[in-house]
This record gives sequence, C-alpha cells and structure tokens, in this order.
Amino acid sequence: MYSDRLEPTPRSETDIRKVSLTDLVRMKRQGHKIAAVTAYDAPSGRLADLAGIDCVLVGDSAVMTMFGRDSTVSATMDEILLLTRAVAGGVRRALVIADMPFGAYQVSDVSAVENAIRFVKDAGADAVKLEGAGTSTSRAAAIVAAGIPVVGHLGLTPQSATLLGGYKAQGRSAEQAQRLCDDAVALERAGCFAIVLEAIPAAVASHISDAVRVPTIGIGAGASCDGQILVWHDLLGLSDGHVARFVKRYATLSDEILVALRNYASDVRTLRFPEERHTYSMPQLELDLFKAANGRPA
Ligand code: KIV
Repeated sequence: MYSDRLEPTPRSETDIRKVSLTDLVRMKRQGHKIAAVTAYDAPSGRLADLAGIDCVLVGDSAVMTMFGRDSTVSATMDEILLLTRAVAGGVRRALVIADMPFGAYQVSDVSAVENAIRFVKDAGADAVKLEGAGTSTSRAAAIVAAGIPVVGHLGLTPQSATLLGGYKAQGRSAEQAQRLCDDAVALERAGCFAIVLEAIPAAVASHISDAVRVPTIGIGAGASCDGQILVWHDLLGLSDGHVARFVKRYATLSDEILVALRNYASDVRTLRFPEERHTYSMPQLELDLFKAANGRPA
C-alpha cells in the first residue's frame, strides 16, 4: 500500500532523498498522514530524521522552550537563523522549515523576501513559515514569487496571542470558522504548500482540510488534518509548567535527565567518577622526566 512512500530509515547516505513538496501533496492525496515536529539543534534534527519524521520546524517556540521566555514575540532573526543552521546541520531527509519571527515579515513584502532568503541561503532551510492571513497572504505570495516555499499558519497564532485574547482556541463561532476557511483558501492561492492549523475545533479543521488541496498540519486541530506537529519539548516531556490540552507526551525525558544528573553529581562527590578507563596515561619515562624537572622524585 505504501509503495511510493519514502524509506523512513535509509540504509546509507546514498539512499537519502529529501522530502519534497510534491511528496507532501501526494501524501495528502493518498491519505498518508504527515508527521512533523519542532527541533532546535543538530542532534534533535538528526534523531527526527532517523525516526522518519517528514518535516522539522525550527519554531520560534524555541525562545520559550530553549531560552525560557514567556512568549514568542521577542524572537529575533539572528536567534532563529542560528537555530535553523544547527537543525539543518543534523537533518538530511526531512524538510526543514524555518519560522519567520515576529517583525521579520510584517513591515513590507521586500523585507519579508529579504529575510526569507537569509533562512534559505545562510541557514540552510528548505522553506519558511509565517503566521496569519491578511498582509501575511501577500507576504507569502511575494516570498513564493522569489522561489522560496512557504507554510501558512492559522488559528491560534502565538505571535498575535495578545490580539487574539490570549492562548486560547480560535474559530469557535460560525463567523470565525468561515474566516479561517477563507484565509486558508487565500493562503493556498498565494502559493503556500502547507498550512499549520493551531488550536481550532476539529470540525473546522476537517472542513478546511477538504477545502484546500495543500496539506494541513494540525496542532490541537483534530485527527482530520493531513498531518500533525508537536513541539519537541512537549512531546518528549522536557517542558515544565502548563501543558496545552492538545499535547500528548511520548516520553518523560526530564525525569531521566534528572536521575542521570543526580547520579553524576553523586559519583563526582564520592570519587566513583572518573574511573581508570576514563583517564589518559603517558609513557613512564616521560612521566619520570616530568616529575624530575619539577623537583619531585620519580
Ligand atoms: O513555533 C512553533 O513551534 C510553531 C508550532 C507550534 C507550529 O509554530
């Protein structure tokens, strides 16, 4: 059934074929769900790749998960560029999507295109993502016209959470649901090759997924989306504090890390680490010479 599906775990470097935009559209057409995660460094990108993840998003959520801030609004181009370069260094197969930070695409089509080019040229991203509709639709069209693939993002768009009344589900009235649907169609027309739908009713996401030919990638948008995305730290149990309703934890790595760090500290304090096998030796003659030169008997 999966005859033309990509090999999830390539046997060698030469087997690796980058996930393409047409692969994603074909997956939607054939009903094969797209698995996406965020990642913020090379080892995480590499693990996502090894696991057969289709798309890796270098989300601006990084400034919350990695830098401890309480919103994504302060993310800068330099920060997301650096993290994107790191992720792209670890990923071979999955599509690497860089999140354009707030301020990088709001001012004009020209600056949006210039910033998108930096993600592709300087940081190795395959595509960029931007939030919202309205002016974001024309920014998306301008970036696509420059030859850079764009992902849209509708529903709860964290960069404008204050305007939306906080981090809460969107599209729960008929009017809002209709606007989301119209926005999705507009983003598709602007050339977006996929649209993230965040925190909207499953029924609305299902309707949107039927209304557009490009894949929808849901996060808190139900099972009918063409794919799903979760934030790395949420999925792996590395985040603390409040976890959104739509998060499913697949591991509790923070517990394992705590145990490892406590064991390490205890080993250091009780001289159980390092052991002989963790240390380097030198020829006895050289050691004797060294000691003699420093006035210590051999
Ligand atoms: O920044 C991010 O992690 C995102 C995902 C939640 C889609 O935009």
